[in-house]
Amino acid sequence: METNEQNGKIAIVTGAGGGIGSALVKKLMENGVFCIMVDMHESPNSNLAGIIDQNKGAYFSVDLTDISGIDKFYDDISVKYDKIDFLFNVAGIGIYKKIGDLTIEDWNHSIDLNLTAPFYLTKKLIYLLQKSDTPVVFNIGSGMGVFPMAGRSAYCASKFGLRGLTLSLANEFKNDRIKFQLLTLGSVMTGFGAGGIDSRLGLQKTGKQYLTPESVSERILEATMDRNSPTEIKFYPEGYREENT
Ligand SMILES: NC(=O)c1ccc[n+]([C@@H]2O[C@H](COP(=O)([O-])OP(=O)(O)OC[C@H]3O[C@@H](n4cnc5c(N)ncnc54)[C@H](OP(=O)(O)O)[C@@H]3O)[C@@H](O)[C@H]2O)c1
Repeated sequence: METNEQNGKIAIVTGAGGGIGSALVKKLMENGVFCIMVDMHESPNSNLAGIIDQNKGAYFSVDLTDISGIDKFYDDISVKYDKIDFLFNVAGIGIYKKIGDLTIEDWNHSIDLNLTAPFYLTKKLIYLLQKSDTPVVFNIGSGMGVFPMAGRSAYCASKFGLRGLTLSLANEFKNDRIKFQLLTLGSVMTGFGAGGIDSRLGLQKTGKQYLTPESVSERILEATMDRNSPTEIKFYPEGYREENT
């Protein structure tokens, strides 16, 4: 893709301060896409330091588990931007507990952020997306949305749900310009889930394979720009499927 091709395109990236989100923002900006970055922190975190440039993006602090926060975000952006080209639902949480330890708050948090927020953002933004020539809603799923796993029922339920939502909307909009995509993703070297990045670095030393946030963001960009890319894209590190089934 030529850099200039994407000039004038506007993307929303949720979880923009996270491992995958910040790599994706960087990649999009390098390709001339203006990024509306959404994360919880009042101001951009250290992952976004050095990336933020007023000409290339704008930052919004939104708690995506709060529906009224999403409504306010929509009101703020709909007066500033007359179209949205890409919605990347990246924000997510991994609460890994057995059912005896899983609280109703853990459950609601997982479903609210991983499933309800992508649903509600999509619903709110349909009108602005339909004003783009090449609209894409891109959801970050997980192998845990395909393979069940003991001790991860809340996370699996949210990602199985996100997969169902995305594949159903792809059908619902098959005669529309809006393209729905799901990245069914294996383990990535970020601070996501239990134990954070230190735990992952430790497991890597024992031979577990991880994708890098940069390779994931490249795969996302490639699929977003290819109008013929399949709805579901699977991207796993070596050995991923076997180890989780
Ligand atoms: N890493 C993996 O192995 C992996 C594998 C498969 C799928 N995924 C999916 O990839 C996505 C991104 O994961 P990641 O690895 O980049 O994890 P990450 O580094 O933990 O990023 C998640 C981002 O979401 C933000 N966030 C959390 N709660 C939020 C809320 N209520 N409102 C707004 N933003 C919120 C986080 O902000 P804070 O930093 O403030 O918490 C963080 O910036 C997730 O959907 C995850 O399920 C990850």
